Amino acid sequence: TMTDLDTALLTVDDQQAHPDPFPLVVGLRTAAATMSDVVTWIATERRRLIERLSLHGAVLFRGFPVHDANEFDTFIRAFALESFTYEESLSNAVRINCTELVFTANEAPPDVSIFLHHEMAQTPLFPSRLFFFCEKAPRVDGQTPICRSDVLLERLAKRAPEFVEACSRLGVRYSNVMPAQDDPESGQGRSWRSTLGVERKVQAEARLGNLGYRFEWLENDALRTTTAVLPAIRTLVDGRRVFFNQLIAAFRGWKDVRNAARKSICFGDDSDISPDSMQIAIELADELSFDIAWQPGDVALIDNFLVMHGRRPFAGERRVLASLVADDGTRLAA
Ligand code: FE2
Repeated sequence: TMTDLDTALLTVDDQQAHPDPFPLVVGLRTAAATMSDVVTWIATERRRLIERLSLHGAVLFRGFPVHDANEFDTFIRAFALESFTYEESLSNAVRINCTELVFTANEAPPDVSIFLHHEMAQTPLFPSRLFFFCEKAPRVDGQTPICRSDVLLERLAKRAPEFVEACSRLGVRYSNVMPAQDDPESGQGRSWRSTLGVERKVQAEARLGNLGYRFEWLENDALRTTTAVLPAIRTLVDGRRVFFNQLIAAFRGWKDVRNAARKSICFGDDSDISPDSMQIAIELADELSFDIAWQPGDVALIDNFLVMHGRRPFAGERRVLASLVADDGTRLAA
C-alpha cells in the first residue's frame, strides 16, 4: 500500500542470539518518512511487533523520524497499549513528566550507575513493557545495558542451584529508606509523599498497611519500609522462567545518605541473602548484558518481564525519555 514503509532488520555490534537476535533492530530505510507514515505503519504492524517483542525481549527502532517528547508520545500512542503512570507507581526514582505519557528516565546524576533491574519488580505494581527514546546522546557512554532474565536464570541455576531454589521457595523482601522530600542526588530519592501519593504520616501508614509493608519512622521524617514477600522468580505464559526481581539493583545500588545497599534485601522469611550468591548473579548478568549505544532518534521497546535494564554513567548531556505500559495480563503465567 501507499503507506508501507521500507524497514529492514539490522545487525548491530555485539548483538546476541538466544537463539533469536537480542535485541531485534528494525531500521527505517524510507527517506523523508513522516510521523504520520510511521503511525500508520505501527497501526498495521503493532500485533506482529508485540509478538516479536515477547519472543526477543527488546526491539530497537533506528532511523525513525522521532525528534522530541511529543513525537515520542505520538509513536507510543500508535501502539494503542494502556499506559502505566508514574504517579500511581511505587517507583523510587525521581522523574519529571514531559507529556502525559513521557517522562525523564531517571534524574540521578551522570556518575551514578543504575544497575540492572526489572522496572518496579520491588513493588506489587509493575509495567509490562517500557519505551525508551534518545533525544540527546551523551558525549561519553551513558548506554542502557539490557539483559535477558530467562537466560540469566538458566545460567544461575547451574552455578548457584541452592540460591535459585531458595529464591523460588522463600521469595524476597526489599527495604528502603525514603526521604520526606525528593532527593535528586540519589537514584532512589523519591520522597515517601510522592511514592505513596500522600501528604501526611497517618495517610502514609494507612497506605503501607494496605500494601502489607512494615515501616519505621526515622529522624528528619524519613521512612524505612520493608515490602511484603514478593516472588523472586516468575514464569511467563510461554513457560520461560525469569529472574524477575530487584535483587541486583538493590544489592549494588540502593545506597545513599539514608541507605546501605546490603541491608536492602533479604529472603521472604527475613533470612540473609549471601553476598557470594549475589556476586555470582551480578557476574553472570554483566556477561549477558548488551549495551544500547544510543543514537538520537532511537526508540527501544523492552519487555519488562523478560529483560532487565540499567544505565551506564556518562559525561555530557544525555536526554533519554521513557514511558511505561500497564500489565495487560498476557505475559505472566497465572
Ligand atoms: Fe528502570
